[in-house]
Amino acid sequence: MPTPTPIILDCDPGHDDALAILLALARPELRLLGITTVAGNVGLAATTRNALGILALAGRPEIPVASGADRPLVRPLRTAAQVHGTSGLEGADLPAPLAAPRPEGAIALLAELVRGASEPVTLVPTGPLTNIALFLGAHPELRDRIARICLMGGSMGEGNWTASAEFNIWVDPEAADRVFSAGIPLTQVTIDVTHQALVPVAESDAWASLGTRTGRVFADLFRFFAGWHARRYGWDGSPIHDAVAVAHLALPGLVTTEDYRVQVETHSELTLGRTVIDRERLSGEPPNVSVSVGIDRARFLDVVRETLAAFP
Ligand code: BDR
Ligand code: CA
Repeated sequence: MPTPTPIILDCDPGHDDALAILLALARPELRLLGITTVAGNVGLAATTRNALGILALAGRPEIPVASGADRPLVRPLRTAAQVHGTSGLEGADLPAPLAAPRPEGAIALLAELVRGASEPVTLVPTGPLTNIALFLGAHPELRDRIARICLMGGSMGEGNWTASAEFNIWVDPEAADRVFSAGIPLTQVTIDVTHQALVPVAESDAWASLGTRTGRVFADLFRFFAGWHARRYGWDGSPIHDAVAVAHLALPGLVTTEDYRVQVETHSELTLGRTVIDRERLSGEPPNVSVSVGIDRARFLDVVRETLAAFP
């Protein structure tokens, strides 16, 4: 087995972020160095508590967690509490955190972990890109220590928050613009592809019947999350957006990508937060992003099952 890829998750748990954390802990191809939290799905205190609660549930409280930005760079925070509930992880009770967040905060923890790693680190943002934009601005000397940014956000087709935009990019488009134009290798997992990998509600029965606390908690969380997708789209199942970004890093080829020029709309109120993907190469500019275009859904469902089975 090759050396595991060192990664840092920057997230706003969030039901799908929670499964992304489990995946990052479970996959032998990855080594989770730490977790930083950002305001997004709900406020920062809740996303931080949720990350710590998931680590407690997974029996991995030694993973360092630090909280970052409590609002977007220049805009007020807008949340997705209607999707994730007011706690951000509605549907199940998590254990109390077994560790405190690191006092230095997200930007300092990112710097410490990236600087101290034996090889360049992959950043995996699954919330608004505020922390990552701040980190890149504060530590230009560490850019070469970032192997890649593999993020969940944006869309090629329609949005899921406005007709044009996906939630993570829409919440902090200025931060997203900085990250997309930073010149760092970037992979973008869009909702076009996460929506191709719906996890059927019935999968939660299999998780519950594992007989583990983690299985029961995630079954209950998933049923709550799927309830929103049933009401919103009429689906019998749910995308688990953020877990796709982590799964792709563990299993290259799970998601197929194509390289395009991508820019983020930061001005128009109508199309704010849209990721404009130049599929026809009309701009003449070189590609800056590997954009997801397809996914092996059956393999993804297997990976999710394997992940749930790996915890007590
Ligand atoms: C993204 O928005 C959030 O609600 C989810 O956690 C995911 O990161 C999907 O648009
Ligand atoms: Ca998220």
